Parts: sequence; structure tokens; C-alpha cells
Amino acid sequence: ETTLGAAAAQSGRYFGTAINSGKLGDSAYTTIANREFNMVTAENEMKIDATEPQQGVFNFTNADRVYNWAVQNGKRVRGHTLAWHSQQPGWMQSLSGSALRQAMINHINGVMAHYKGQLYAWDVVNEAYADSGGGRRDSNLQRTGNDWIEVAFRTARAADPGVKLCYNDYNIDNWTWEKTQGVYNMVRDFKSRGVPIDCVGLQAHFNSGSPYNSNFRTTISSFAALGVDVQITELDIQGASATTYANVVNDCLAVARCNGITTWGVRDSDSWRSGDTPLLFDGNGNKKPAYTSVLNAL
Ligand code: XIL
Repeated sequence: ETTLGAAAAQSGRYFGTAINSGKLGDSAYTTIANREFNMVTAENEMKIDATEPQQGVFNFTNADRVYNWAVQNGKRVRGHTLAWHSQQPGWMQSLSGSALRQAMINHINGVMAHYKGQLYAWDVVNEAYADSGGGRRDSNLQRTGNDWIEVAFRTARAADPGVKLCYNDYNIDNWTWEKTQGVYNMVRDFKSRGVPIDCVGLQAHFNSGSPYNSNFRTTISSFAALGVDVQITELDIQGASATTYANVVNDCLAVARCNGITTWGVRDSDSWRSGDTPLLFDGNGNKKPAYTSVLNAL
């Protein structure tokens, strides 16, 4: 195969990218994105501040730009994200307690209704765990009560029964980290109590502070053994080592329920961490050594 998406499809997987609506007029960008990838995540456009800028007033203009570009080009879409402490609109940041809890539920219902039956998966809850200690991150959502995550998932299942519901986080790649164990225990608890969850997204933003570790495969297989799909949702690797990229792909391929990989952007110049040159294409759109390494591993 000669593209990432086609190569991943050989084993029934997908290979995706984050798409930014502001770049859809850049033909160098869209040419690569359309050629190589078969799954799309909106980089920012489906987040809470973008889709509900005023309470109760939904705006899908830029989200639909990304969605329509993807579907018109034959790609599936992962929704990102419905409940998160970050990129909340100002009105939500100032809410608390039962008013915030209800606003979260209304937001999930409003956004999921717009895309009902049209998405592959939703990152229902993003980044709810603390960086150390294995417990929940303090946030306005967490302060509404520890059950906010399961309420989000139950609300999501009722809103669109056909879409896969994922929990997504960073620094849950290293199996030995407390944060990984905290999320693992939550997913195990949800599965045992029938809280609807279908998948875990490992963001996989690898850098010197949180490098790729060879226990990544153990993390993937351990989550999968709980009965959820696992997706690598926001992959980027500081310096883009070809060897490390191949290791990530091989770890996913080794686990049947690891069914897709998404890199967080197209070219290094598109990356949220462009100084790390962490992606598969350089700023001129040329394939980097990591690209060839990934293609060969798939
Ligand atoms: C990032 C985007 O790439 C940036 O453009 C934005 O300014 C901040 O958010 N984890 C996530 C993503 O789940 O939504 C984040 O995306 C990167 C970290």
C-alpha cells in the first residue's frame, strides 16, 4: 500500500489525523490530508467553547466545515470532545454545582443530537484524571460530584445509541504510572457496573517528560482485556524518531482491539507543538523518515 489509511485498512484499522478548519483553504494541506488519512478528528471545532459559545446557543459552523470535508472525501469522523475542564466557554467556567451538571448534560444532548448517527466515536470525557496520584483532576466538573463521568457516558448513550463512547486522556500510555492505573480502575469499574463505555483513547503525546515506553503494549492490551476498544487518538512524538513511531504502530497492531491511530496534525507546521517537529510530514509537506517507518510497519 502507498498511503497510511490504505495500509492501516489491510488489518481493518484506520489511520487518522486532526483537521483544523482554518487550513481547509490550504491545498498543500488538504492534498496530503485527503491522500493519506481515512479518519478525521476536529482539532478544536467540536469542543465546548466552539459548539456552545453562549449557554443554550449552539454553533456548528466550523465543526461542520471539518465534518463535511471529511465525509465528502470518504472519511469517518471521531467527535472530540463533550466534557472537559479545558476550552470551556466563559459561561460554563463560571457555573458550578447542579447548574453546571445540568449544563454538561444539555451540552452533550445538544451536540450529539446534531451529529446523531453520523460519527464513528465520541470522546465523551477528556482528561479527567490528575497528572499524579491516580485520582481525579480537580475541576469545576469534578466538584459537581464524582459521578459526573458516568452521568456523561449514560447521557451520551441515550443521545446517540449507535456511536462508540470513549474516555480520552494523556499520560496514560505508561503502564507503571499512577494516572494510567487510575483510568484503568475507572474503566474496570464502569464495565463491571454496566456504565456504557466502548473505548479508551490514548492521546500519546510523547516528549522528553513523558516518553514512549516499551510497556505501551501492556497498557493497550490491559485496557483491551477489560472489553473496550483502544485507539491512539492524538499521536505526536517530539523529534519524530522513526524507530519510536514504528514501535507505537507495532504495539497497536499486536492487540486486536487496538483498531486505529490518529496523528495530531498533518505537517510539523500544523502541530500544536510545532517546535517539537513531532509529525510525519515536514513543513513543506515532504514525507519524513518516520512516515516511511510507519507505512512499513502497518
Ligand atoms: C489542542 C489543539 O491542538 C490546539 O490547537 C489548542 O490550542 C489546544 O488544544 N489534548 C487534547 C486536544 O485532547 O484537544 C488538544 O488539542 C491537545 C491535548
